Amino acid sequence: MRDKRTVRSFVMRKGRVSPAQSKALRQFLVEFELPVENLALLPDQFSRKQPLTLEIGFGMGDSLLEILLAHPEKNFLGLEVHEAGVGHLLNEAKKAGVENLRIMKLDAMEVLKSSPSSVFERVQVFFPDPWHKKRHHKRRLISAQFMELIYRVLIPDGLFHVATDWQPYADQMEQLFQTDLRFQRCSAPPRPVTKYERRGHLLGHKVVDIALIKVARSMKA
Ligand SMILES: C[S@@+](CC[C@H](N)C(=O)[O-])C[C@H]1O[C@@H](n2cnc3c(N)ncnc32)[C@H](O)[C@@H]1O
Repeated sequence: MRDKRTVRSFVMRKGRVSPAQSKALRQFLVEFELPVENLALLPDQFSRKQPLTLEIGFGMGDSLLEILLAHPEKNFLGLEVHEAGVGHLLNEAKKAGVENLRIMKLDAMEVLKSSPSSVFERVQVFFPDPWHKKRHHKRRLISAQFMELIYRVLIPDGLFHVATDWQPYADQMEQLFQTDLRFQRCSAPPRPVTKYERRGHLLGHKVVDIALIKVARSMKA
C-alpha cells in the first residue's frame, strides 16, 4: 500500500537552538503556549477580550513582536514550528512584559482545522517558504485548501494579508485569489520589514503584498 503521509509546508530540521532559546522554551513556553485542547475556547484565552490576529510562520518573531507591542488593543496568536524562533520570541516577549500574545508550536494546517469558525479579525502570513523547485510546489502553504480554512476562521470583513518575495509564488496566489469571489482585494496594511524579507532585499527580490477581505456573504466562482 502507498504511504499516504500529509505533505507539509515545512521540514523539521534539527536547527541550532541556542542555550538562551532552550532556556526560554523551558521557562516561558508554559506561560505563553496555547494548548491545542484550548483552541476551541478561542478567543477567551487572553487576559483581555479584544480583536484577534493570527500570524502563521513568524520565524524569529521580531516583526510579530513589533506589531503586537504597537497594538496592545489587539490579541495575537503566533504559530511557528521551529524551536529556535519560538525560543527567541519567548525571550523577547518576556523581556517586554507582553500580555497580548499566545504561541503554538504546531503546523498551521492542524491549528486552522481545529480552530473555531469566525474567530480571527486578521490572518497574516509573511514570507511563506517559497519552495522554489517544481517538485516541491505541492509543499507551498497557500493553496485552495488553505484558503478554505482561512475563509472559515476569519470573521466577516476580516483581513487576510500575505507577503512574498518570490514572484512565481505571487503569480500562483494571484491566480488562486482571482477566481475566489469570497474575498475582495484591498490595499495591504503597513507592516514591519521581516528578517526573511531583508535577505530577499539583499538578493534584489521584489516584494509583493496581497491583502484580501472576507466578503460577508458570497458565492465561489
Ligand atoms: C521563510 S520563513 C519566514 C519567517 C518570517 N515570517 C519572516 O518573514 O522572517 C517561513 C516560516 O514559516 C514556518 N512555517 C512553514 N510552514 C508552517 C506551518 N505549516 N505551520 C507553522 N509554521 C510554518 C517555517 O518554520 C518558517 O519559519
